[in-house]
Amino acid sequence: MQTITLTRPDDWHIHLRDGDYLPTTVSDVARQFGRAIVMPNLTPPVVTVPQALAYRDQILLNRPSGSNFQPLMTLYLTDQTRPSDIVAAAQSRDVYACKLYPAGATTNSDAGVGSIEALYPIFETMQQQQLPLLIHGEVTDTQIDIFDREQVFIDQYLIPIITTFPELKIVFEHITTQDAASFVAEQSANIAATITAHHLLYHRTHMLSGGMKPILFCLPILKRDTHQAALIRAATSGDPSFFLGTDSAPHPRSRKEDACGCAAGCYTAHAAIELYAEAFEQAGRLEYLEGFASHFGADFYGLPRHVDTITLEAMPWVPPKTIPFGPDELMPLRGGETIKWRLVQPEAGS
Ligand code: DOR
Ligand code: ZN
Repeated sequence: MQTITLTRPDDWHIHLRDGDYLPTTVSDVARQFGRAIVMPNLTPPVVTVPQALAYRDQILLNRPSGSNFQPLMTLYLTDQTRPSDIVAAAQSRDVYACKLYPAGATTNSDAGVGSIEALYPIFETMQQQQLPLLIHGEVTDTQIDIFDREQVFIDQYLIPIITTFPELKIVFEHITTQDAASFVAEQSANIAATITAHHLLYHRTHMLSGGMKPILFCLPILKRDTHQAALIRAATSGDPSFFLGTDSAPHPRSRKEDACGCAAGCYTAHAAIELYAEAFEQAGRLEYLEGFASHFGADFYGLPRHVDTITLEAMPWVPPKTIPFGPDELMPLRGGETIKWRLVQPEAGS
């Protein structure tokens, strides 16, 4: 049987939610990933170190027995964030980055930043403290077409931030365009980008033709196929500026199928590494998966690569159409459809 063995991978961008949703999300992420950067967009958001530590405790309580999964916490930047919050984060052993959501850009971003320029003193402190800045890179101006919001963000905000803070480590999260991929490739080693499995596997025509598919609606929105092709080239290039971040973002089915506005987010944690393997194999570049999934993110964050491995086998399987999700259910990506690769689960006790 065809198999692939990789250094254990990490997920550098995931939404685990909280409360009753954690048993599903934590067991799915812990199945495959050693660590994950946990997004702070809860309601209310995680804005202080004590809140991040309390959230981390909740996640750890939901770890499957025997799992060594490590949640790496983040703080949500708001107009009220103070330099002292950043110093506290940098001194904490459990907070690894801060996330910038322009207000209104996406799910639970109402508390996000109104004026990015007003955050410059915070970026200055982050640069001094060597705390990475994670950016949801889309402008929120309703005059700007939704398909153009990432490119406009690069010119209006990202270039000025990079120019002003050249030593600040920045992750341009879940990039979706050729423009973002070329931009990141041209920058110094301080600038990196995560790429999701769904943006590697789908483009906007998949979402919009033959009936609109809420399951594929996420932000930044899927772009045209030429952008998808550029993301595939970047992810499979061996350039360490690009690494794995699923942006797996569960929503109850009722919120995805809501006629008054579908919630943005694709759930991929149930099959993430398998979906990435499919994308890399389709590109004929499976040998580049390990760097992208298991090495480059750890190197960027200055963390050790894992010493253990995971193995995938070519054993087609069909994820369920729905997964229990606290009192609700969620619809995982590819539910009811075949996925070629399957993670080999270690024997109990091994
Ligand atoms: O599609 C998305 N869903 N994009 C985001 O940026 C947030 C996420 C969520 O939290 O649901
Ligand atoms: Zn996200």
